Amino acid sequence: MNTNTAYEILRTRRSIRSYQASPAITDEEVRALLVAGMNAPTARNRQPWCFVVIDDRAQLDAFADFHPYAKMVHQAPLGIVVCIDTQKELAPGYGVADCSNASTNILNAAHALGLGSLWIGIYPREERMKWLSEQLGLPAHIVPLSFLAIGHTDVVAPEPRPYAEEKVHRNRW
Ligand SMILES: Cc1cc2nc3c(=O)[nH]c(=O)nc-3n(C[C@H](O)[C@H](O)[C@H](O)COP(=O)(O)O)c2cc1C
Repeated sequence: MNTNTAYEILRTRRSIRSYQASPAITDEEVRALLVAGMNAPTARNRQPWCFVVIDDRAQLDAFADFHPYAKMVHQAPLGIVVCIDTQKELAPGYGVADCSNASTNILNAAHALGLGSLWIGIYPREERMKWLSEQLGLPAHIVPLSFLAIGHTDVVAPEPRPYAEEKVHRNRW
């Protein structure tokens, strides 16, 4: 079986929690990441997402101080908050799947661009959603789902997980 580069990107992506201060993430890279997110599959093609790009050091530091598992954001030069536009999702709940797909596309695109990335959980933790909504001035119908930390890294990712036969069922449980 032949595998291609895209397959290797999916297989080798890992959460990266250490970032380098330079080089900066370019506007072109940010745009490429967002394009990847915007090409994720969504229920009835509603694309109920919007993105808040954060490159302001004070805001990144405030988030790192607030969130219990986001101290590495003190180092990260870039955060992308993926949000659900609840006025556009197919029905309540679909936006979570749609915007999770966008989030994962962005993580994989970051890996493909040679960047490290990490999904930091926001939804469904009410206190995190509320805090981030206030900080970013989100309208009431915009719900933050994930905070994606992104940066150059020198971390060597661990080996990809092997195939796990016990997770797989054929035709029935
Ligand atoms: C919904 C969600 C929430 C997560 N929240 C955090 C978080 O708050 N802090 C963190 O360091 N990692 C977080 N992660 C990353 C996971 O810990 C990571 O994906 C998992 O350990 C598997 O590692 P891998 O991404 O390298 O495969 C989150 C991932 C997901 C999908």
